[in-house]
Amino acid sequence: MLSINVSHAKSFLSYPYEEVLRPRLERAQRELLNGGGKGDDFIGWVRLPAQYDRAEYARILAAAKKIQGDSKALVVIGIGGSYLGARGVIECLCSPNYNLKKKDTPNVYFIGNGLSSAALREVMELIGDDDFSVNVISKSGTTTEPAVAFRFFRERLEQKCGKAGAAQRIYATTDAHKGALKSLADAEGYEEFVVPDNVGGRYSVLTAVGLLPIAVAGVDTDALLAGAREMEALCEIADYTNPAWQYAAMRHELYRSGKKIELLACFEPSFRFMAEWWKQLYGESEGKEGKGLFPASVDFTADLHSMGQYIQQGERTLLETVVRFAADPDQLTVPHDDVNGDGLNFLEGKTMDFINRQAMDGTLLAHVEGGVPNLIVSAGERNARTLGELIYFFEFSCGLSGYLLGVNPFDQPGVEAYKKNMFALLGKPGYEEAGEALRAKLSK
Ligand code: PA5
Repeated sequence: MLSINVSHAKSFLSYPYEEVLRPRLERAQRELLNGGGKGDDFIGWVRLPAQYDRAEYARILAAAKKIQGDSKALVVIGIGGSYLGARGVIECLCSPNYNLKKKDTPNVYFIGNGLSSAALREVMELIGDDDFSVNVISKSGTTTEPAVAFRFFRERLEQKCGKAGAAQRIYATTDAHKGALKSLADAEGYEEFVVPDNVGGRYSVLTAVGLLPIAVAGVDTDALLAGAREMEALCEIADYTNPAWQYAAMRHELYRSGKKIELLACFEPSFRFMAEWWKQLYGESEGKEGKGLFPASVDFTADLHSMGQYIQQGERTLLETVVRFAADPDQLTVPHDDVNGDGLNFLEGKTMDFINRQAMDGTLLAHVEGGVPNLIVSAGERNARTLGELIYFFEFSCGLSGYLLGVNPFDQPGVEAYKKNMFALLGKPGYEEAGEALRAKLSK
């Protein structure tokens, strides 16, 4: 089971912060579990692993099977919370090179997470004449980036299979009642999956949003949900044996003591997109009202050779949370070399995991010595069950952290600012006046 070690951060706090925070954590916990806190119409994710709609889940698995049978590629169209979780899980468990591997599951391409023409064209070229399906994901059903990308891929699929044939290969994951995507899906007869009303985008990876693409890639979603359920049970405990309490309390107090940036680090490169998911989760949940740790991420050991200098000696506003996995079973060992020209025979016979672990411990000691508190999240072996635990752990901790900070961890009012400007500059009907004002500003 996942555990957290905060002992390498405790020396940065000289008071009994756990006792001080206890009543506030108890309250935050109650509000997350039972409602009554800010944004409590969006806490559906809290009970999701244990209470997931079984009929919807069965349809997700059936759709994944159908896609595996009739498609060489799945194009997943979505942005933010409608994208990062699925990519994070697939890359972490199946590899960032998943699409390049020999396998009996379809390639999975993520698009609609930006507005680059080159990125769109590249996915079209990579798919070529292959049979493909599309999973378009947007809770609001109105987000520009995925909507534009969907227009391209829908057109392509309709050209290839005809309108009716395309409709058999398009899966829409969206709101149960409203939005342009919902209307389109109803009109065209696409199979639809629901993002529950009370689950916001960045907390939705364990709904159809994440589960359909993840299942298509062959990941054991039963195990993913089972892991999340186990963590859900642990997170119901209202004391410091709950790892979410330990994490939320420590990062909150470090923030209050002057730390401004939290680095999420991992020594497994396949974790990179899980870290992207985590950044959105914490950044959008906490970064408001002029408050919040800035979430950043680093891939170790690679980034020790680029960001390591700053982490060791730059401005002392960092804290570091390191996700550690147990050794993968299939370990490479360093081979013998008679000549030993590289001087590495002292490592002969050692597993790569052993070497990586010495790097982890060496880095931990150096960074703590350099003034960077370290929190270690031990996630166990890297598999679907442990990743389910980790996802739920970070979600629950994020809810607690947001409440400790006094913000609504479930809204994202700041995301609207760029959208309004973009619509105005694009000439979207209704935004004409604003567009003129913005153009005048830009021409200064
Ligand atoms: O967490 C959120 O709600 C957002 O980041 C959304 O996931 C993101 O903006 C995409 O929105 P939608 O799914 O409505 O297209």
